[in-house]
Amino acid sequence: MNYRHAFHAGNFADLVKHAALLALLDRLPRPLRVIDTHAGRGLYDLSGSEAQRSGEAEAGVGKLMQAPDLPAAFRPLRDAVRRLNGGDVARLYPGSPLLVAGALKSGDSYLACELRPEEHSALAQALKGKAGVGTRCADGYAAAVAELPDKGAALVLIDPPFERADDYARCVEALSAIARRNPAATVMIWLPLKDLETFDAFLRDAEDAGAGRLLVAEARMRPLTDPMKMNGCALVLAGAPPGLEPVLEQIVGWTAQALGENGQGRVWTAA
Ligand SMILES: C[S@@+](CC[C@H](N)C(=O)[O-])C[C@H]1O[C@@H](n2cnc3c(N)ncnc32)[C@H](O)[C@@H]1O
Repeated sequence: MNYRHAFHAGNFADLVKHAALLALLDRLPRPLRVIDTHAGRGLYDLSGSEAQRSGEAEAGVGKLMQAPDLPAAFRPLRDAVRRLNGGDVARLYPGSPLLVAGALKSGDSYLACELRPEEHSALAQALKGKAGVGTRCADGYAAAVAELPDKGAALVLIDPPFERADDYARCVEALSAIARRNPAATVMIWLPLKDLETFDAFLRDAEDAGAGRLLVAEARMRPLTDPMKMNGCALVLAGAPPGLEPVLEQIVGWTAQALGENGQGRVWTAA
């Protein structure tokens, strides 16, 4: 495992995922159980060498904080980044754990899973003292199914690094197991968009997972002509709450147009 999210924190793909995550947390019924299968370290220092070397945060959250035309769907994320930094200069960036912990209401609970021991230590530190929150240094796919209540409102975020070929298959297996265990659960899977064949194959398998109607939001940052590049990202959601489509349209539309090169956002439903 070589993946370090510190190189990518605050990039366009984090903005899409985190704006959608905050929209879900605002709309789902309570009390809510949230499980983050791949939580990362929770908090990222964008002045650190990883973020400075990649330049991804500067091209992502750096631009978001200065955007004059930011759609309403991004305001909760911009507000969260502002609160963390005490202003519009993003030196720190919140990962999904801090965003979820900040959106919990009375009676909610949150489990953040992270497999790498050093990332997990940082995660536990970032979430220390927050009510209703637990962390586990464990495989998130297995923990998500084991820790999911069998009824009631639940949200599972599946955000793997996709550095292993079996991450696609494990996402589908988890989606299927979650739907069997708690049909009321909402699942959001984040995926990179490199080439359409890989994405289409994943969607065909996900449609057969028994999780019902899937909502798909794609931010294509450039035409998908070079499969060696991350040309965009996608979110695939099962059990999305009513009214989410227009929010996702704003999120992927602004990201692709404002931060992409000839980019395009699309939101659609897979059977
Ligand atoms: C894309 S990052 C997560 C970012 C985080 N969800 C966020 O939005 O801030 C993926 C993380 O998953 C961790 N990881 C890899 N395989 C895992 C597994 N099977 N279970 C749990 N964590 C895993 C990696 O160490 C990495 O920190």
